[in-house]
Amino acid sequence: MTASDREAALLEAVRAQPVPEHVAIIMDGNGRWATGRGLPRIAGHREGVKAARGIVRAADALGLRFLTLYAFSTENWSRPLDEVSMLMNLLERSVHAELPEFMARNARLRVLGQTRRVPLGVRRGIDHVVHETRNNTGLTVLMAFNYGGRDELLDAFRALARQVQAGELKPEDITEKDVSGALYTADVPDPDLLIRTSGEMRISNFLLWQIAYTELLVTPVLWPDFGASDLYQAVAEFQKRTRRFGRV
Ligand code: FPP
Repeated sequence: MTASDREAALLEAVRAQPVPEHVAIIMDGNGRWATGRGLPRIAGHREGVKAARGIVRAADALGLRFLTLYAFSTENWSRPLDEVSMLMNLLERSVHAELPEFMARNARLRVLGQTRRVPLGVRRGIDHVVHETRNNTGLTVLMAFNYGGRDELLDAFRALARQVQAGELKPEDITEKDVSGALYTADVPDPDLLIRTSGEMRISNFLLWQIAYTELLVTPVLWPDFGASDLYQAVAEFQKRTRRFGRV
């Protein structure tokens, strides 16, 4: 059996069971992948883009409704300036290059995060893809870009406070649904599964409210090496866990 036969068999087995609606991924390890090979960190990010492309295809093949990818956090600004600017440009160019494939797959791009601080050219490039794909009805890819979980909560609390101040909402009437609806992920179901690559056991300020009941899976695989089979295996593991429904 070849590797691609095994991948196809795994996909078929996973698709025979209920698949999660929403998978979120902390893509970590590009830098280590590159330095381990004596390459500059940006080479790892370039490979990371290839991995992301493969995972979007694999998510589509699985029939996921939502795939969230943590591309750039608010903390990432403190990396060396040249890495930040190369990363910004790489992300913008990669997203732009994906437009035809998104259209062909009927996939939609949304961005989670604050647009302030993002260079105007990068913002416009990404907004263009968001705009062009807005009516597509297949897989939604949510790219967390200049994203911070606490910032997202602060923005939500401020929006709710403004409604209270305007007399539209009473503090005691605020529900979980109101908070969820004020987040960047309004009308997106919470992730069923959160995957983190490259072994770190941390949440790193990602989707803090949304992951309250999410299954977590940390894999030692570095992001550039994370392929379709790794995603299918992660979903197979998720299916094993959820089939227990709290029983032993
Ligand atoms: C993780 O590795 C890298 C990032 C979070 C940067 C951006 C991600 C990509 C370029 C992948 C492609 C994404 C999209 C949406 C097209 P790291 O630099 O934190 O690695 P390290 O922990 O080994 O230093």
